[in-house]
Amino acid sequence: MCGIVGYIGQHDTKETLLNGLEKLEYRGYDSAGIAMLNEDGMHLFKAKGRIAALRNRVDNAVHATMGIGHTRWATHGVPSEDNAHPHQSASGRFTLVHNGVVENYQDLKKAYLHDVNFASETDTEVIVHLVEKLFKKYQDTVKAFRQAVSLLKGSYAIGMIDSENPDTLYVAKNKSPLLVGLGNDFNVIASDAMATLDVTDQYLEIFDQEIVLLNRNFVDIQNLDGTAVERSAYTAQMDASDIEKGTYPHFMLKEIDEQPFVMRRIIQEYKNANNELKLDMNIRKAMKATDRIYIIACGTSYHAGLVGKQFIEKLANIPVEVHVASEFSYNMPLLSEKPLFVFLSQSGETADSRSVLVNIKKKGYPALTVTNVPGSTLSREADHTLHLYAGPEIAVASTKAYTAQIAVLAILAVDTAQAKGFELDFDPLQELAIVANAMEVLTDQKEAIEALASDYLATTRNAFFIGRGADYYVCLEGALKLKEISYIQAEGFAGGELKHGTIALIEEGTPVIALATQANVNYAIRSNVQEVAARGANTMIFSSKGLELDTDAFVLPHVHELLAPLVSVVPLQILAYYAALDRGCDVDKPRNLAKSVTVE
Ligand code: M6R
Repeated sequence: MCGIVGYIGQHDTKETLLNGLEKLEYRGYDSAGIAMLNEDGMHLFKAKGRIAALRNRVDNAVHATMGIGHTRWATHGVPSEDNAHPHQSASGRFTLVHNGVVENYQDLKKAYLHDVNFASETDTEVIVHLVEKLFKKYQDTVKAFRQAVSLLKGSYAIGMIDSENPDTLYVAKNKSPLLVGLGNDFNVIASDAMATLDVTDQYLEIFDQEIVLLNRNFVDIQNLDGTAVERSAYTAQMDASDIEKGTYPHFMLKEIDEQPFVMRRIIQEYKNANNELKLDMNIRKAMKATDRIYIIACGTSYHAGLVGKQFIEKLANIPVEVHVASEFSYNMPLLSEKPLFVFLSQSGETADSRSVLVNIKKKGYPALTVTNVPGSTLSREADHTLHLYAGPEIAVASTKAYTAQIAVLAILAVDTAQAKGFELDFDPLQELAIVANAMEVLTDQKEAIEALASDYLATTRNAFFIGRGADYYVCLEGALKLKEISYIQAEGFAGGELKHGTIALIEEGTPVIALATQANVNYAIRSNVQEVAARGANTMIFSSKGLELDTDAFVLPHVHELLAPLVSVVPLQILAYYAALDRGCDVDKPRNLAKSVTVE
C-alpha cells in the first residue's frame, strides 16, 4: 500500500507529482505529501486526507526540478500530518518517502538512534535518521544510503533527496513495487506505471535489493554491494484512457459495465485462428503433471478461487484446495506428491500471497500466477503467468477482475481436460460469449437493481446473502462487496448452515438476499428462504431463467450452469454500488482500505 512518485528534470515537478499521486490514490488515501527542492531549499507540503487536500496546501509559486511525493495507507501511526510522508532527518538535509514496512524499526532505533527525537510514529522515519547518522560517519550520501538500506528488514520502496546534492534522486526497493520511468531530459519513479503514463511510456524494472541513482539524463542501477546492473527499458502497454473515469461518476460503475467487454477480450486472447483454446504449452504441461492444485489468494480473488476449484475438479478431474494466503504459512496442509500452486491476484502485488510464493519456491514447487498485471511481482516470481486481460481496475472494490479470474480459470480447466484427452460437452469460448451477452442484459437493468437497493438496504444495519453450491461462493463475494463499500455488516452463508446458529440474527426486516442458479439445490435454497421469511426477514431471490418463481425479485438470463457465478455476481455488484451511494459513501475509495495490499 502507499504510493510513491518522484521526479528529476526540467518540467514542472509539482504537477507531475500531484497528478501522479492522484493516479496512485487507489494505493492509500489517508494522508499525502510532497517535497520539492529548488535553489531556495526544500519545500515540504503535507495534508491529512486526499490528494485534493494536499493540492490546496501546495504553494503554486514554488517551482522545482526535483521532488518526491507519497500517498499513505497507515500502518504505523494514525493518519495525520505528522505521520504523512515525506519525512526528514533531524538537520533537514535528507527527505524521504517510503512504501512498505520496516519490521526491525524498533531494533534500529535502539541500536543507532537512541539520541534522536522522532517527529512521527512511523517506522519510515527511522530510515531517514539512519541515513543522516551514517552520513556523519562516511561523509558520502551514496554510501550512507546503501548502508542504511542494508540494515532494513522488511519491505521498502524508497525515494530520497539530499538537499546538498540537487542532481541526484536516491532510490531503493525490496518487495514493495517501484519502477523508473525514462523521459527526455527527465526521469521519474513511481509505484505503478499508471502514475506517470502521461509523461512517459518507457520504464525500467527495479528488482529487490537494488538501489538506483537517478539524475535527469541517467539511471544508475546497482546491487546493494555497489555492482552496476544493466537493464533494458520496456514500453508500458497501457492506454491513458483506461485509467480515466470518462463519463462515469465512479470507476466501480465503469468497471462493472466493462465486464462483457472483458469476457470478449478473454475469448479473443485465449483462442487460435481455428477457434480452439490457445494456452502456453508449459502451463498445460504443469497442469497435466500435477496431482493436486493449491489455489492461494485473498479477498475477492479467494472467492474467485472457490468457483474455479469447481471447474478444475469437475472438468479436469484434479483435486483442488483453495487457501486464504495469510493463513497458509501457519496452517500449511499436508501437500500431495506433485503439487502445483496457483496464485490468484488481480494486482499481482499482494504481500500475503507473495509470502506463500516465496516459501513454496524455496521448497522447489512449481507456481502459476493468474493476474491482471503480467509484470507484477507475483507474475515475475512464479514459473508461469496467465493474464486476465481485464484492463486496469482502479476502484478498490474488485468487480471485473473477479469475473475475469473465473473466466480464465474455466479456460484453464477445459484446456487441461482436453490435454488429458477427456471428451467434454462444454465449449468455454462459446459459453463465455453467452455470458458476455447476459452480463450486458444485466448492466442495462441497473435501475431495477437500484430500486431493490433502496427498498432493502437503505437503512439496514446488516444483511445476509445465502446460496448453496456455487451460489454460496458468489454470496461470499456479494457480501464482501456490500460490506466494503457501504459499511453494512453483511455475511455470505451456505443456505443449509443458517439454522445452525446464524438464523438467531434474523429479525423483523433483516434483508436476506438469496441466489438460485443451481438446479440441484433450487428447492433446498427456497426452503431456507422460507425459514428466514417466517422469522421476519425481508427476502429477495435472484434466480436463473428456467428456475424462477413468480415471486422472485429478479430473473437472471440463462447461461451454462457452471458459469452462472459470472452472471449472478453482477446484480450483487450493482446492489452494493447503489447501497453505498444511497448512504453517501465514497464508493471508489472506501474507508480503511487500499487497492493493492502490499503489507502482510
Ligand atoms: O490484488 P489481489 O487480487 O491479490 O487482491 C486481493 C484482495 O485484497 C482484494 O480482492 C480485495 O478483497 C478487494 N478489495 C475486494 O473487492
